[in-house]
Amino acid sequence: MSLTRLQINHVRNLKQVKLRDLAQVNVFFGRNGSGKTSVLEAVHLLGMARSFRGSSVKSLITHGQTHCVTFGVANSPTIPGVGISLGVQRSLAGEAVIKVAGSPVKSLAQLVEHLPLQVINADSFELLTGSPAARRQYLDWGVFHVEHRFLEQWQRFQRCIKQRNKLLRHGKIRDQELAVWTRDLASSGEATGDYRRNYFKLLAPRFKAIARQLLPALADGLELRYHQGWDRQSTYESALEASVSSDMEQGYTHVGPQRADIRVLIDGRLAAETLSRGQQKLVVCGLKLAQGQLMAEYGKGSCTYLVDDLPSELDQDHSRQVCELLAAMKAQVFITCIDRADITSVWPEEDSDIALFHVEQGTITPAGISAG
Ligand SMILES: Nc1ncnc2c1ncn2[C@@H]1O[C@H](COP(=O)(O)OP(=O)(O)O)[C@@H](O)[C@H]1O
Ligand SMILES: [Mg+2]
Repeated sequence: MSLTRLQINHVRNLKQVKLRDLAQVNVFFGRNGSGKTSVLEAVHLLGMARSFRGSSVKSLITHGQTHCVTFGVANSPTIPGVGISLGVQRSLAGEAVIKVAGSPVKSLAQLVEHLPLQVINADSFELLTGSPAARRQYLDWGVFHVEHRFLEQWQRFQRCIKQRNKLLRHGKIRDQELAVWTRDLASSGEATGDYRRNYFKLLAPRFKAIARQLLPALADGLELRYHQGWDRQSTYESALEASVSSDMEQGYTHVGPQRADIRVLIDGRLAAETLSRGQQKLVVCGLKLAQGQLMAEYGKGSCTYLVDDLPSELDQDHSRQVCELLAAMKAQVFITCIDRADITSVWPEEDSDIALFHVEQGTITPAGISAG
């Protein structure tokens, strides 16, 4: 999946932008504060209906305006030459109007499958240094895009755990009532865990192969470990049984997929506590590239990469290696830099489908396709 057209209205300092004939690689260059990150925000809004920086959607709307709108055409992964129009409008009041092929859709999943996005930016470190929630989100992104059926189990699990925790909080629970929710929780939680585990088994070797290219000296010691959120040896049902008294005592469900995590280790120690910032950034790039590779390999189309300020924390050789991997994946890329040469000098020369855009005070001007 890739975008061929993009229209942006009132996203941060981008009042009205229309981009046609987007290329596989789209480089946005310009001075600080010109609007480069805002372009990536706009693409993210189109694919996910929200900001990528965890900031509120209000902050995306141009000051003084009540709405922001993005519209785009994504080509279909299955039918060549066929485009699907996507539109997202968000308002200051928090409303979202999402349209796919001209018709409003109710669930975000219906939008997300048309434009799978991966973000690599200054906040991406959080994948290593942040809470397990960030890593679960990362994992679930991958599982969903390879296996859409995952969503149903995941949603069922969320419903069950919410209900069960509500009962537990309440005290004075009827055993029977708790048993009903526990049974449903056990089956949806087991299924959620199965999907995640199977996906992780595919992901880990891809990550390792990429790490060999990006961090050859460290790759042998790098290890991904999946923790499912309950004892490895037991079924989720028996893990729930074993923890029922502490659940009742403390008023919440202790074990389960809600506690899952991926640990990234280097020589047995947490990578987040050991590696330099640059090395951490490379690990994060490796994790995100591995997901894109896996998606493409499983015939689910390619994802679009939003790469903000790649050179920060990376030396030129490593920036080049990340670009080479991105180029080899044939994924669509939106990438920002201050000077166009920051990217054109490190992007593989044989890759011809590059479009350059100069960003200046919220205006975007095509700047050709040649390096320089
Ligand atoms: N809601 C908003 N309305 C108008 N301008 C905004 C809004 N949010 C941020 N800006 C401004 O938009 C400009 C572009 O920001 P950004 O895209 O982050 O720049 P950069 O090119 O450095 O990535 C900045 O000057 C910023 O202050
Ligand atoms: Mg920026």
